[in-house]
This record gives sequence, C-alpha cells and structure tokens, in this order.
Amino acid sequence: MISKAAVLFEVGQKLFIKEVEVEPPRSGEVLVKMAAGGICHSDLHVMNGDLHNPLPAILGHEGSGVVAEIGKGVMSVRPGDHVLPLWRMSCGECDYCSAGRPALCPEGTKIRNTGCFLDGTTRFKLDGTEIKHFLGVSTFSEYSVMPEKSVLRIPQDLPLDRAALFGCGVVTGVGVAINAARVEPGSTVAVIGTGGVGLNVVQGSLLAGAGKIIAVDLVDKKLDLAREFGATDTVNAAAGSPVEQVRDLTDGKGVDYAFEVIGLPATMRQAYDSLAKRGMAIIVGITPRSAEVSIPSLSLVYEERTITGSLYGSSRPRIDIPKLIDLYRVGKLKIDELLTRTYPFERINEAYEDLERGEVARSLVTF
Ligand code: APR
Ligand code: ZN
Ligand code: ZN
Repeated sequence: MISKAAVLFEVGQKLFIKEVEVEPPRSGEVLVKMAAGGICHSDLHVMNGDLHNPLPAILGHEGSGVVAEIGKGVMSVRPGDHVLPLWRMSCGECDYCSAGRPALCPEGTKIRNTGCFLDGTTRFKLDGTEIKHFLGVSTFSEYSVMPEKSVLRIPQDLPLDRAALFGCGVVTGVGVAINAARVEPGSTVAVIGTGGVGLNVVQGSLLAGAGKIIAVDLVDKKLDLAREFGATDTVNAAAGSPVEQVRDLTDGKGVDYAFEVIGLPATMRQAYDSLAKRGMAIIVGITPRSAEVSIPSLSLVYEERTITGSLYGSSRPRIDIPKLIDLYRVGKLKIDELLTRTYPFERINEAYEDLERGEVARSLVTF
C-alpha cells in the first residue's frame, strides 16, 4: 500500500513528505493506521546528528493509532483496536525483561541500532530503495508496520490525541521520578529542563509527594507551565548560576534528586552540583555518543552522592501506561495542559522548528 510519510534522508536536512510503499505485516507484526504522532526532542536529536539512526528513515516514536491489519500469529490485538507504539521493543523473555527492565532488552537495542526489524529487513520502500524504521515504530507515517511486541492496546474511549502523549513523554517523565529515582514524600527535587519530558518529571515528583520541586529552564513560559504542573519554585538559568539558585532555595543544602532532561553535559554537571549529601542525579537527556561528563570524585565518597541514568522512565510500559491513563482519568495527571499545539501532518517541519524555539510543551501532528 502507499502511505504518506516524513522521511529523513540526511542529517541536517528537514523532513520530506513522500509517498512510500508499505509492505503488509508479516508474521508477528501489525499494520497501524496512525492517528497522531508526537513531536519529541529525540527525533530532533536524530535530525541534527546527535543520535545516530541508519538513514534514510521514517522518524517518530510517540503516537497513537488504530490497528488496520494483523500478521500471522498475532494474538494481543485485532483490527480496529486502538494502540500506542512502544518505542523500545522488548522480547519478554530475556534476563532484563524477566527482571522488569524491558527498556534494556537486547532485542530492542538491536532494532534501535539497525533501523530494521529483527529479521534485518524493513517494511518501507521508496522508488525501490529500502527506508529504515526508527525504534521499530516510525510514527511519522500514515500507515506503519510494527512488531506486535511494540504495540499496546489502549481503551477505545481515550481520545487518540491525548493517548499519543503517554507513549514517550508521560511514561518517561513520570516514570523517571517514580521508578528510577523513587522520589520520597517530603523530599526536594530539581528538574533541569522543563520541556515535554521535564514537565512530566515535575508532575511525577508531585505524585510521589515531593515537598519542594524546583523547575530550571531558560524560557519563562516553560517555568510558568512548570508551576502549573506542580513546581513550587522556579529558576531561570539565564539569570545567574542555576546551581547557586537551587542551593539558595534549599538553605544551601542542595536537593535530594536532580533530573537532567535536556541532553547537555554542562546541565548534567549542574544536576550533580545541585545535590545535597546522599543526593541522586538522574540523567534523562540524550547526548552525542562521544560526550562525557566529569564530576568531582571525592563528593561521591564524602557526600555519598549518586549519579545514574534512566531509559524510557525505567518503566514496564505494559503495566505502567494503563496506570498512568487511570491517573489522568481521575484528574491526577495533567495531559490536556501538556498538549499545546496540533499541526496537520504536512506541517511537521514547522512543528519541529517551534519545538526548537521552545514554543510548545508537547505538540502533535495528526493524520
Ligand atoms: N538550561 C536550562 N534549560 C534548558 C537549557 C539550559 N542550558 N537548554 C535547553 N533548556 C530547556 C528548553 O528551554 C526546553 O524547555 O530544556 C527543555 C527541553 O525540552 P524539549 O525541547 O521539549 O525536549 P524533550 O522532548 O522534553 O526532551 C528532553 O529528554 O528524552 C530526552 O531525547 C530527549 O534529550 C531529550 C530530553
Ligand atoms: Zn520521545
Ligand atoms: Zn528481552
């Protein structure tokens, strides 16, 4: 079948809307008619070359859609079901999957690194040339084939535009506070970078019962939003050292948890420097592979600090996403407020320009 898709041909270029050929789903695969695709910074990392993906590829890893067709042996979904793509495929059987760490599954890593399905092939072609997938889900295509293990059935009555946000920004952001940091009630938190993912770290910390949540960003509009999402204090990093501002807000002690949700070595160091004794810095932002962060090693010992990272909110998406949907439905998670803008699919480049300019919390393209 022919489908409109946004293709990245080379690093540094914009996306081109093309009519690509989509092969029918093979055994264990599903064809999804996408309703919405989420505009997340991780795709931008691929476009600007910070994050490598084989090219040409169809990007997009957040979204929602309706199952159009299923391949042989598919049991968990049927045509007409509403689904979310899960951008880290997990086999369900390896040591990591068995230990409740599906984001670390080697099969997901293989799909991520090759831009292909596990059999080494793709389901997209343009003028006879193979087009790669992104994270096995390529949500920036009207129709996309995904492994069955990469889709999660969601309630039919959840609006598909709201639903789309759960698959990356929400499960990553809320998950990192709850699963990775295990934020304790009454503790102090700094969230450095309050964009689409960071705002969810703010609301995840609030859910977990943090006493003080300090939002750090360069854009005042983002800081205002962060207050709406539960931040008790805000720091504009352009107005002087963010580390000192965070320390001033905590009687000089520093915070128990500092999250870096941007992807810059400098702000990762700021997260570490903002910590109190026994504090934990959690890195969420993606840097180029070659990037390094240095930290004063003595503080690891004398202050028992921790620095760690978290992928996909260290979540178990099949358990956690339905819970997050329930939390939204009872008014404990802000999703409507997160969705700042919706663009027709054809204006996807404009959506990324607006994200880069810091104009939106989270936006979507719709098909
Ligand atoms: N100091 C403070 N805030 C900054 C700085 C800085 N030096 N540089 C950028 N920011 C802010 C931006 O103003 C923006 O609000 O960081 C935020 C980043 O948000 P988004 O662009 O919406 O990115 P998001 O989709 O949230 O992803 C953030 O998490 O999952 C990863 O790959 C993703 O590395 C990316 C990060
Ligand atoms: Zn994302
Ligand atoms: Zn596995």
